Amino acid sequence: MARVIAIDGPSGSGKSSTSKRVGAALGFLHVDSGALYRIMTWQCLEKGVDTQDESAVAACANEVEVECRAEGGAIAYYVGGEPPGERIRTPEINAHASHVAKVKEVRERITALLRGMTRYGDLVVEGRDITTAVFPDSPARFYLTASAEARAARRQKEEVEKGIANQSAEAVKESLLARDAIDSTRKYAPLKKADGALEIDSTALTLDQVVETVLAALPAEWRTER
Ligand code: DC
Repeated sequence: MARVIAIDGPSGSGKSSTSKRVGAALGFLHVDSGALYRIMTWQCLEKGVDTQDESAVAACANEVEVECRAEGGAIAYYVGGEPPGERIRTPEINAHASHVAKVKEVRERITALLRGMTRYGDLVVEGRDITTAVFPDSPARFYLTASAEARAARRQKEEVEKGIANQSAEAVKESLLARDAIDSTRKYAPLKKADGALEIDSTALTLDQVVETVLAALPAEWRTER
């Protein structure tokens, strides 16, 4: 049975950096579940689908073929034979993704894809519902948080560094809080801290400290194999 480390939290809480580092330390494949919601959003927008129209979104997402490959320590996604790259990281995708992520059929499809990834080996999976709905039985579940200011500052830095956008910190914070509000209040699998998950507030912690906290909290036998 493959082992799964599950990490949830709001945008900019440090899930990506943390899960990549934890995966590399243990030899577990990194899985970015948010990228799958972004791919579905991107495809809906490409096809001119209104992302507030749930049945149109469900129909469109159902047609999207995502190929998953284990490469470079992660599960990589391909659509039409190509990686989507930064096309799924734009402010436009940010603004629409949480609407697409509300749709039950989209969530069911992505949940099945994520569960199927255990065939590739041990995983560290990050998202919003990994600890509560996708892998609720994992013995290694974490909820990352940070202040809204810290989260917005991280996201803005990332957007500028990657040349994705040049928004003000205030604009980034506003879009991030709007997204979090939708993600936390939706009907199906909303973002929340799971009972039994370890909460880590990364506002005043370095990435090394967060990674060490996660590694130290893993089942003992997972750690001794490092
Ligand atoms: O983590 P991210 O910003 O790439 O996520 C993109 C969107 O997908 C965001 O609105 C939250 C949603 N999402 C989700 O509902 N469930 C997940 N497991 C991962 C992301």
